[in-house]
Amino acid sequence: MNSLDIYFQSIAKECEPSNLYNPINYILSQDGKRIRPRLVILAAELFGIHPEEVKHVATAFEMLHNFTLIHDDIMDQAPLRRGLPTVYKKWNSNIAILSGDALAIMALQELLKAPCDDATKIKISDLFARTSLEICEGQQYDLDFETMEEVCIEDYIKMIRLKTAVMLAGCLKSGAIFAHASKKDQQALYDYGINIGIAFQLKDDILDLYSDTQVFGKITGGDIKENKKTFLYLTALKEANEQQHSDLTHYFSSTDFDDAQKIQEVKKIYEAIGVKEKTEILMNQYVQEACRCLDAVSVTEDKKGKLYELANALVSRDK
Ligand code: IPE
Ligand code: IPE
Ligand code: MG
Ligand code: MG
Ligand code: MG
Repeated sequence: MNSLDIYFQSIAKECEPSNLYNPINYILSQDGKRIRPRLVILAAELFGIHPEEVKHVATAFEMLHNFTLIHDDIMDQAPLRRGLPTVYKKWNSNIAILSGDALAIMALQELLKAPCDDATKIKISDLFARTSLEICEGQQYDLDFETMEEVCIEDYIKMIRLKTAVMLAGCLKSGAIFAHASKKDQQALYDYGINIGIAFQLKDDILDLYSDTQVFGKITGGDIKENKKTFLYLTALKEANEQQHSDLTHYFSSTDFDDAQKIQEVKKIYEAIGVKEKTEILMNQYVQEACRCLDAVSVTEDKKGKLYELANALVSRDK
């Protein structure tokens, strides 16, 4: 276990009441990919900051992320995450709501521990607050779209930029702000983050259907079950013939179908249209754009190596 993981486990240890803090311990002790703290650290390192110095900022973002997951799983009625029962399944929805709230507040407390001057702290806190609010906006669009028939690709991209990409971008920019990087570099890293974030969510949408639950840790087909207007669905709908179109809209009009049958039928249509490949094309375009944004960051190429690698790793992952 690395030092950050050890630190995560200490955050809510032995706090009471246990029904508030045990779920927090539970989620912070799980085996997440830790992408967000990694981004804070990598951005700060570009400008000569040691990982230990940005530990509190990195941890705050991972806490915020885990808070969004606790609530997201209630909203998406998801039973499994990281191969384990979700908080609301293991406890109940009331406990998941409240422990999620507590975790979000603790994330802010964590951020305020950052060893930097007040002006820097205010800048990072402002970004942290704005990012948190944007995630709520994205999550609301995601829910609204479940019951909307007319969602265009532009709406979808806006939604995933808010629910997912701004967090990755916020992590990178916070690392850069902490390191007193120039405004131009802060913005270039933010833009890199938006692009990898959109690519990351496109990959998540692919893995939701095309992955092994054992590896991915979440149930397969959850997005279809919940009528999520993903890029896969929107592309299928756009390219569908009359019969496919009517089948898709029929299946996405309710959540009362037999889940396994619905997933199988929708998947068949997706495959006939080749939506996975079309999603991968768009995803790779965002990775390329991310790398162009990274080009503009004014540090030597060798220092940026890990971030170029990460952009590609995020879309080649299987979990
Ligand atoms: C899950 O994020 C939520 C999305 C934005 C798709 P991750 O895939 O980074 O989740 P963990 O932290 O590694 O479990
Ligand atoms: C994740 O979207 C967005 C946030 C958690 C903010 P998803 O609902 O697709 O994430 P997973 O697939 O449940 O991790
Ligand atoms: Mg969701
Ligand atoms: Mg979800
Ligand atoms: Mg998902």
